[in-house]
Amino acid sequence: MEQPAGGRGRPPCLPSGIGGKATVDAPPNIAFVKYWGARDLERAIPANRSISMTLRRSFSRSTVEHDPALERHEVHWWGAEGLEPAPPSFGARVAAHLDRLRAWAGVGGAFRVGTRNNFPAAAGLASSASGFAALTLATVAALGREASVEELSDLARRSGSGSASRSVLGGYVEWPRGWRRGELHAFPLAPAGHWDLRDVIAVVESGPKETSSLDGHTRARSGPYWRARQRELPARLAAVRAAIAGRDLAALGEVIEEEAIDLHAVAMTSRPPIFYWKPGTLAVLAAVRALRGEGVGAWSTMDAGANVHVLCEPTDEPVVAARLEELDAVHEVIRDGVGEGPRAGEVHLF
Ligand code: PMV
Repeated sequence: MEQPAGGRGRPPCLPSGIGGKATVDAPPNIAFVKYWGARDLERAIPANRSISMTLRRSFSRSTVEHDPALERHEVHWWGAEGLEPAPPSFGARVAAHLDRLRAWAGVGGAFRVGTRNNFPAAAGLASSASGFAALTLATVAALGREASVEELSDLARRSGSGSASRSVLGGYVEWPRGWRRGELHAFPLAPAGHWDLRDVIAVVESGPKETSSLDGHTRARSGPYWRARQRELPARLAAVRAAIAGRDLAALGEVIEEEAIDLHAVAMTSRPPIFYWKPGTLAVLAAVRALRGEGVGAWSTMDAGANVHVLCEPTDEPVVAARLEELDAVHEVIRDGVGEGPRAGEVHLF
């Protein structure tokens, strides 16, 4: 398999923080083999390895300004009228991560932060992965620091959103489970240019989900199917790596559909149970099976939410998108695909 350039060293996504201020756009990622359950949830040390694809068009934008004279972090997000103070629960998670980054950098003062997504937040589209990846990169850049991709991935993991460690990299990415010291950061499996896969996202619910993935990780081991899924994972990870290396969508698709259904089976049978699926989720899964029956290579996966990601080759993207748009349950279809990872934001949010 081709090796991506820039696995080590200063990543191009780290802009120079002119005047102590920097903006980064970071995409979400869709997991093929999911992170579900942690050995240490606070530090996001996962129970199992995971593999994902970083997206291209969807992104979270984060502008961070460091002010040595500021006493408390100021966190804003994008509301109906523009930037507004973020709700306390969100602001507290962001502030806790800013404290970590401030300690890492060994500086004083505090940060002003503005954040915005160009896709529905908290609906199983990994907005926490893209949001914390963007926040981490923009903060490091605002401080004028340099760091390797590995260090940035590890810093993003420490936000508590483990999947943020994968959004720091583009293309196809693996995140190990960190038995060995220094093995807690994600690493590239193949660059975006290796295989132009498309992800057609059927949004059946755009509001926030009822149970956060953090609660999901906490309950993951409580049900009877946790162990059964864990036993499947080594073979699944190997099959996904081989399918990516060989650009074999049918092989990849079979494994990722099975893995997504297992993840939701574990969630639905945890104690107390978590139901992320909505009736629209099942309608999309049925449409994807019907497409395959007609010879279209379309395969689904879902993260911790009701929305369905449909993976396909570029030639099939129009027919897949058109079919999903026809469904009453689908509010919006987002056409995305594999992308190169975070980049410097074009404009500051403030
Ligand atoms: O990184 P978190 O804590 O937001 O959890 C991610 C959970 C899944 O999206 C369901 C799986 C994954 O690996 O992205």
